[in-house]
Amino acid sequence: MRLMDEHLGPGRGRPALDVGCGDGALARHLHHELGYRTTGIDISPSAIALAAGHNSGPGPAWRCADIATGDLTALPEPAYAVITCRLVYRWMDDKRAFLNRVRHLLAPGGIFWVVTEITGRRPATGPLQDLGITPAQAELLTAGWSAVHTSDLDVLCCYALRP
Ligand SMILES: C[S@@+](CC[C@H](N)C(=O)[O-])C[C@H]1O[C@@H](n2cnc3c(N)ncnc32)[C@H](O)[C@@H]1O
Repeated sequence: MRLMDEHLGPGRGRPALDVGCGDGALARHLHHELGYRTTGIDISPSAIALAAGHNSGPGPAWRCADIATGDLTALPEPAYAVITCRLVYRWMDDKRAFLNRVRHLLAPGGIFWVVTEITGRRPATGPLQDLGITPAQAELLTAGWSAVHTSDLDVLCCYALRP
């Protein structure tokens, strides 16, 4: 979170989209701590119900939709200054198509913040070997941006990507 805050900076009411928001913890942080006007989207109705259950008063907007196939015009904003994607990129079947949709939603000068596990960083004998992305998937993720900043955190890598 601290690393993300340093990269994103204060929101000052600008729009942010948290993709695969789960229980909404990251979206709430963007909204309440950093001051972004945040939307959380998740394909799971139970995740969205959990996230929305935390709202008491003004908070993020929540949408139950598939980021890979859903109608992007149904989102509250046409473009986002920040798009976050924590522990979700791994699960996108068509990563190239997903990245194209993110690019379409990102405002000029915006930032795409991705947190993902990297394959091979867990002990070879341990469980959860399949949670990471491969070098080819990492290369696809970082291709075609004007600026790429990476930070390693144990088994995770954080990417700050600018169009
Ligand atoms: C490992 S959880 C991460 C949740 C949250 N980002 C976090 O860091 O706590 C992955 C989330 O991505 C969501 N997800 C997976 N595929 C999705 C899709 N195509 N569209 C939207 N959400 C998706 C899942 O429902 C799940 O809530």
